[in-house]
Amino acid sequence: MTPVWTQEGQEKRAAVRRMFSDIAPTYDLLNSFMSLTRHHRWRSMAVEMLALKPGDAALDVCSGTGDFLVPLRQVIGPEGALAGVDFCRPMLDVARQKDERALAVGDACALPIQDAVVNAVTVGWGIRNVPDPDAAHREIFRVLKPGGRFVSLDMARPKNPLVRAGSTFLFRVLVPFLGSMFGKKSAYTYLPESTQRFWTRDRLAASMESAGFVDVKTHDLMFGNLCLHFGRKPEGRIS
Ligand SMILES: C[S@@+](CC[C@H](N)C(=O)[O-])C[C@H]1O[C@@H](n2cnc3c(N)ncnc32)[C@H](O)[C@@H]1O
Repeated sequence: MTPVWTQEGQEKRAAVRRMFSDIAPTYDLLNSFMSLTRHHRWRSMAVEMLALKPGDAALDVCSGTGDFLVPLRQVIGPEGALAGVDFCRPMLDVARQKDERALAVGDACALPIQDAVVNAVTVGWGIRNVPDPDAAHREIFRVLKPGGRFVSLDMARPKNPLVRAGSTFLFRVLVPFLGSMFGKKSAYTYLPESTQRFWTRDRLAASMESAGFVDVKTHDLMFGNLCLHFGRKPEGRIS
């Protein structure tokens, strides 16, 4: 069978959904283990950049097990509107235990959300898995209110060649090994392999700008193995 990380289009969409359905029960445990729980800190940092206020509306796309819902809820409060969208039901079943309100099964490239209704959108480790990131960026732009903010966190390739070589080796050995301890070697080979093949931070930033975002900036974390992309929908733009 063709490995997931070499697939594209509809084939990739189906394979990615199958893969996340398979790893949903162990996803949180391995995520915390591999990031040494740092992912909570990175999420809080991303949410801070969104400058949300109590009562605001926020959307988490590719929500998975919902780890962005928790820091988002903390800033928008109980009166804020929060939704998570993911196309993999077993991942959302785990998310439901963290914040059971408004979780929807849906595709990042065709969001089941009206135009211009949310103040901010987050995507965590999601955009790399979407078969058409340009379409996802256009959809995220569409659902944001004028002035709305978007932040995406995902794996990246370090710019420094020495760090890149070391990280590539480590990720290609360590991550599949950890996955194999849970009987999920293929899914955890996907992480380093899809990172190697995915768009550069500059190409992603250009895709956001093409979708209409302004103030687009990137911020490297974990020696450039992780990159945060930020963008804002201009005031006065509805769609
Ligand atoms: C690596 S997980 C990240 C989950 C979560 N955002 C987090 O930060 O832990 C990627 C998620 O993206 C979802 N996903 C991938 N492609 C998608 C698409 N086209 N539409 C909706 N969800 C998608 C998968 O189902 C999976 O739950």
